[in-house]
Amino acid sequence: MIKKGIILAGGKGTRMSPLTKAVNKQLLPIYDKPLIFYPLSILMLAKIKDILIIVNKGQLNQYKKILPNGKNLGIKISYLEQDKPRGLPDAFVIGEKFIGKENVAMILGDNFFYGQNLTSKLLNNTKLKKGAKVVLYKVQKPESFGVAKINKKNQIISIKEKPKKFLSDLAITGLYFFDNNVVKYSKKLKPSKRGEVEIVDLLNFYKSKKQLSADLIGRGGAWLDTGSIEDFYKTSAFVSAIENRQGFKIACLEEIALNNRWISKKNIRDSISFYGNCDYSKYLSKFL
Ligand code: TTP
Repeated sequence: MIKKGIILAGGKGTRMSPLTKAVNKQLLPIYDKPLIFYPLSILMLAKIKDILIIVNKGQLNQYKKILPNGKNLGIKISYLEQDKPRGLPDAFVIGEKFIGKENVAMILGDNFFYGQNLTSKLLNNTKLKKGAKVVLYKVQKPESFGVAKINKKNQIISIKEKPKKFLSDLAITGLYFFDNNVVKYSKKLKPSKRGEVEIVDLLNFYKSKKQLSADLIGRGGAWLDTGSIEDFYKTSAFVSAIENRQGFKIACLEEIALNNRWISKKNIRDSISFYGNCDYSKYLSKFL
């Protein structure tokens, strides 16, 4: 079982400027909570308790205000800084000590997943022992994403970043599962023309060894990446629609921790006093 997870939550957030000039993108709201809650909830649903959040240099204090150390969620959150956005695989170089000799999951800080059976899929993916696994999602405009072509056994036979010619309509989402070689391979990567190390190059390492497989989120699930202002509003509308219809919250971290039996009601009370008198606290009080 994969026990360690990384959330890559730095980045320039260029497309969302001026919103991201003073505040990191992952701290901006998706409806009623900061974006970072959503990827964190995904790792927690995957029963991953040891979590490294990589943030931009200088932004650590902002994060610690909202997610100090994970204690009250029954998890361990540690932080490291990235001095500039060197690319996604840089996470495994920065996180080398954190990863140690283990396998690791990584989720991008701006990725939103939702849907039935998601938890069992996540748990299944954490069983990975060797190689790498990516999560794919069918999209209408594959030319805007990194895409993967798969065979019947869900092995990846071809991947390409933003293909001009059609290859597949399965986008590679920002959720990955790697064996421990990821550290070694990431260190070998050379920056591309845009000056970043590329996740596609890392995945190609695994593919060349026939060790790259895929998990598919079907039409009953949602994957939204929240890179633009428009995406932020659309994702917020999605969360608002579901939460207000059902009365359940998406990505309520304490609820997940309680369901996982990682925390007690006392922790819920502590969280309520931490958040103060707000809608989120009212929701938490239902669990008392
Ligand atoms: P991107 O969407 O590539 O970049 P960004 O979020 O900075 O936005 P923009 O393109 O508008 O400038 O990054 C995807 C996610 O990964 C995002 O959550 C930021 C994070 N990231 C890092 O933390 N470090 C990095 O080196 C890179 C490339 C991304």
